[in-house]
Amino acid sequence: MSRLTVVAYTFGVLFFLVSCAFSVFYGYKVMSHDLPEEGNEIKGYNYHFVLVPEELDNDYWRLVEKGAQEAAKEYGVLLEYVGPKQANIDEHLKTIEMSMASKVDGIITQGLSDEQFTPLINRVVERVPVITIDTDASNSNRMAYIGTDNYYSGYLAGKALIEDTKGQANVAIITGSFYANHQQLRVQGFRDAVMSEQGIKIITMEESEISRVRAAEKAYQILKDYPEVNAFYGTSALDGIGIAQVVEKYKKTDQVYIIGFDNLPETLDYLSKGTIKATIVQEPYEMGYRAVQMMIDLIEGKTVPPVVHTNTRVLRAADLPVSHLGGREAGY
Ligand code: BGC
Repeated sequence: MSRLTVVAYTFGVLFFLVSCAFSVFYGYKVMSHDLPEEGNEIKGYNYHFVLVPEELDNDYWRLVEKGAQEAAKEYGVLLEYVGPKQANIDEHLKTIEMSMASKVDGIITQGLSDEQFTPLINRVVERVPVITIDTDASNSNRMAYIGTDNYYSGYLAGKALIEDTKGQANVAIITGSFYANHQQLRVQGFRDAVMSEQGIKIITMEESEISRVRAAEKAYQILKDYPEVNAFYGTSALDGIGIAQVVEKYKKTDQVYIIGFDNLPETLDYLSKGTIKATIVQEPYEMGYRAVQMMIDLIEGKTVPPVVHTNTRVLRAADLPVSHLGGREAGY
């Protein structure tokens, strides 16, 4: 073997080893990017919890996170907010699974559907306590639920619509998702509330996939396909906003009644302008805050009620101004 071949060979081997080291290092970094670290090894904290929402970059969930982080700070908990950037069931389930594998002390998440979430929650709860938040999987073995009574909130929406439209409306429903437990309950409660009203008809129902753009597209299509529709009920935080955009664009604000969900700043703007006539207010900040407290109580062996319902109420323009945070943060 010539000297040149030996040098080239040595360089080749060195280059190979360095690339391997880089791949292992960066591969590990990428894979562990969203993974919580092992609970017991986190120094300076009493506990390590994760909060897994259906969509990280959603203003409603940011309020839940805000409440949870506030409680975490108060009680010395490391709280990680992890999950899909945009609603995605597989990613949501995978994040719960990964959190269990990394041995956190508690998982706070939604129980979106019985089919997909109940079996997973039942498996996880054998190893890590699970509290459902915002959406319950009541048939699962989750340790507790904190959030809105979703059936009641839908019922409230139905009653508000009857009152505001004097019992005369052709309604289109835009719901966040056909399969999610809380969205189904919000629709069911609404249907039951308007059932005995002769003048109220539910004309059609569409799904927004909790996207404001999709809600707007669906509202546009409904107005085209069903000219008789003169009322909308949006069952998740961004639905009312999407519907309101379309109704304003087509200058139908005087002819179309809108009732939505939640009191995000944009919803409050549409409410004060009169485009959205009423909205069902939940308490996301409070849910997050109390979920952390409940998880600590559970771990410390205190009794925690299996179901804790946060407040729900109807908000109309006449009730403004209010803080969009609601509950504890707003000081009531
Ligand atoms: C629901 C959340 C949902 C959000 C979507 C809220 O009304 O309670 O579960 O993720 O709307 O924007």
